[in-house]
Amino acid sequence: MDARHADGSAGDANYSVIGSGYAHYRQPDPQIAALVNDLLGDAQTVLNVGAGAGSYEPTDRAVTAVEPSASMRAQRPAHLAAAIDAVAERLPFADDSFDAGMATFTVHQWSDLRRGLAEMRRVTRGPVLVMTCDPDELDRFWLAHYAPEVIAVEARRYPPIAAIERALGANVQTLAVPIPLRCTDGFGEAYYGRPEALLDPGARLANSAWSFVDPAIGERFVAALGRDLASGDWDRRYGHLRVQPYFEGSLRLIAGGPPG
Ligand SMILES: C[S@@+](CC[C@H](N)C(=O)[O-])C[C@H]1O[C@@H](n2cnc3c(N)ncnc32)[C@H](O)[C@@H]1O
Repeated sequence: MDARHADGSAGDANYSVIGSGYAHYRQPDPQIAALVNDLLGDAQTVLNVGAGAGSYEPTDRAVTAVEPSASMRAQRPAHLAAAIDAVAERLPFADDSFDAGMATFTVHQWSDLRRGLAEMRRVTRGPVLVMTCDPDELDRFWLAHYAPEVIAVEARRYPPIAAIERALGANVQTLAVPIPLRCTDGFGEAYYGRPEALLDPGARLANSAWSFVDPAIGERFVAALGRDLASGDWDRRYGHLRVQPYFEGSLRLIAGGPPG
C-alpha cells in the first residue's frame, strides 16, 4: 500500500521528477491562506499532512509537518520546521496529539483516503481541514477545451467531495474557494486569466496531472494555445477572464469539526 518512489514519494506522483521547481511555482496564495487560517480557529498546535514545501502552514502556531517525499522536504524554507518522513495512512502520533489538522492539495495522491483521514481524525482534537478540487467541477476551466486529457486525469484522481465529507465525520462544512486573478499558487486554475503563463513547461510540471499524460499532449496544448493567443481566438472566447477578479472553479475547503 505504501509503495514509495526513489525519493520516498508515497502517492501516485513522483516528486523526484516533478518536485524540483514546485516551491517556485507553487507559492501559497495569501487570500487562500487567510481562509485556511480562519478555519484553523484558535488551534495552537497544527498537524500538516502531505505538507510538501510548507504552503499554507501557519507561522504563528506550532506546526508538525508530515511529508514522505525527500525532494519536497528539501524544498521547505528554512523558517519552517523540518518535516517528518511518514504517510497519512500511518501517522506516528498518539491519539488527540494536535489541536487541528490540515491537508492541502494532497488527498488525491493518498493510497487510502479513508484510512488517511481516519488517522488525521484520530490524532487531532479539533478541526481537520482538507483543501482539494471537486472532480465534478474541473471542466469549468478553459483548459478542458485545450487539454481534456489533463482534466480527465484530474477527474479520476480527485476523490469525490462527498467521500471526504463522510470520512471527516461530524460537523462538516464545504466552502468553494474563490481563486484570485493573480493567485500565487500555480495549480492549474490559478492561471484562469493568465493563459500565457501555462505555456511555461515549469508551470505545467508543478501540476502533477501533466506528468500522467503523454508529452505529446503538452506539445499539442502549447501549439494550440499559442496559436489562439496569437490570432486572438483565446481572447474572443475567454478574454473577460483577464480582468475577472476571482474565478470559482473546482477548489474546495472542507472542514470537519471535532467529533461529538
Ligand atoms: C501537490 S503536493 C502539496 C503540498 C502542499 N500541501 C501544498 O499545498 O503545496 C502533494 C504532497 O502530498 C504528498 N503525499 C503523497 N502521498 C502521500 C501520503 N500517502 N501521505 C502523506 N503525503 C503524501 C506528496 O509527497 C506531496 O508533497
